[in-house]
Amino acid sequence: MSILKIARMGHPILGRSAAPVDDPGHPGIRRLIRDMIETMADAPGIGLAAPQVHVLIRLVIFHVPADRAEDAEEGADEAAEEVPLTVLINPVVEPLGDEIALAWEGCLSVPGLTGLVPRFTRIRYTGQSPDGRSIDRVAEGFHARVVQHECDHLDGVLYPMRMGDLSQLGFLDEMRLRAEADRDPEDEPPSEL
Ligand code: NI
Repeated sequence: MSILKIARMGHPILGRSAAPVDDPGHPGIRRLIRDMIETMADAPGIGLAAPQVHVLIRLVIFHVPADRAEDAEEGADEAAEEVPLTVLINPVVEPLGDEIALAWEGCLSVPGLTGLVPRFTRIRYTGQSPDGRSIDRVAEGFHARVVQHECDHLDGVLYPMRMGDLSQLGFLDEMRLRAEADRDPEDEPPSEL
């Protein structure tokens, strides 16, 4: 296993469209998945897409940790249930309804920054697991947000490109200070996706 180098915003690979995975069980794919899990844990992050580690294929990994779910129970952020580590290959995301919510996002490819990003609040996503099984889930809130963020990486889209108001993009420490000054309960520290 090894920790992989993460591409940062500006690197051309992050703007390209990724290719479908023909054989999810291929040993090279398995090795990549192990390395991505190690890289995400080291960062640390909540999600990681293969193009972020310089591999242009349609594969993402993510999880929603328990502490994130507890935050949500305190009313601090979007509803979030704990979601175990998921490896999603050739994902397809479909919005369920047209409701959109704003929340803070970060990204391992945009280190140190955070922004307020609109996302569909409810989605269905499908794809394959590494052992070839089908994944078919309905997700809401933060879970839905994470999946939309990661799958955007497969189409060359970074979260600032989804933002409507770039005055809500800033350095994490500055935005935390701003949130403290405003005492806006919505302004919670984001997670690196
Ligand atoms: Ni990201």
